[in-house]
Amino acid sequence: MRIFLDTANIDEIKEAASWGILDGVTTNPTLVSREGKVDFKTRVKEICEIVEGPVSAEVVSTDYDGMVSEALTLSKIAENVTVKIPMTKDGIKAVSTLSKQGVKTNVTLVFSANQAILAAKAGATFVSPFIGRLDDIGNDGLNVLADILEIYKIYGFKTEVIAASIRHPEHVRQVALLGTHVATIPFKVLKLLFEHPLTDKGQIRFLKDWEEYQKRLS
Ligand code: E4P
Repeated sequence: MRIFLDTANIDEIKEAASWGILDGVTTNPTLVSREGKVDFKTRVKEICEIVEGPVSAEVVSTDYDGMVSEALTLSKIAENVTVKIPMTKDGIKAVSTLSKQGVKTNVTLVFSANQAILAAKAGATFVSPFIGRLDDIGNDGLNVLADILEIYKIYGFKTEVIAASIRHPEHVRQVALLGTHVATIPFKVLKLLFEHPLTDKGQIRFLKDWEEYQKRLS
């Protein structure tokens, strides 16, 4: 399973990249807006210079022509830009056009298996089902993810599935078990993946015992 970081924050991206486990980044307009007065394209370029893998940058146009034009501009920022396009009729039409031109796309705001089928048919590089937001309204996000993975397997769709809207470490374990291709994880959840109380306890004990051993030697 590849790990993407779901953020537009440079410090978070630099830190996660330094751990050597980061395969890509996803951003969205909300995440970019949290960064204050940054220029969007400059920020995308900065991220692409830190991360070798796919970096998702989202269009904000809502019509086909606008989305295609924005996507072409964004895709020229760096080779690893993936253009995020919303799951609408115009969006799918744009993905269809862009995929034929070799532009990498990530269909976002996907909440059902049927939407994911349309994204794959249009030739999307990635599809992003939002697990947490489905759970929030009392649906089962993991079930939707499992359906998408199964359907893609049955028909041999090449589109890769990014489990998105991940809220906690348990989501990460569950989407990994389902065999998702990618999980895009917020920084605070990624940091929690390192944690286990027995690791901390064990480390304290090892260091204490080592110190006593050194004292005995001197
Ligand atoms: C996906 O690419 C989105 O950026 C993200 O996962 C949305 O998550 P949220 O529901 O926590 O906003």
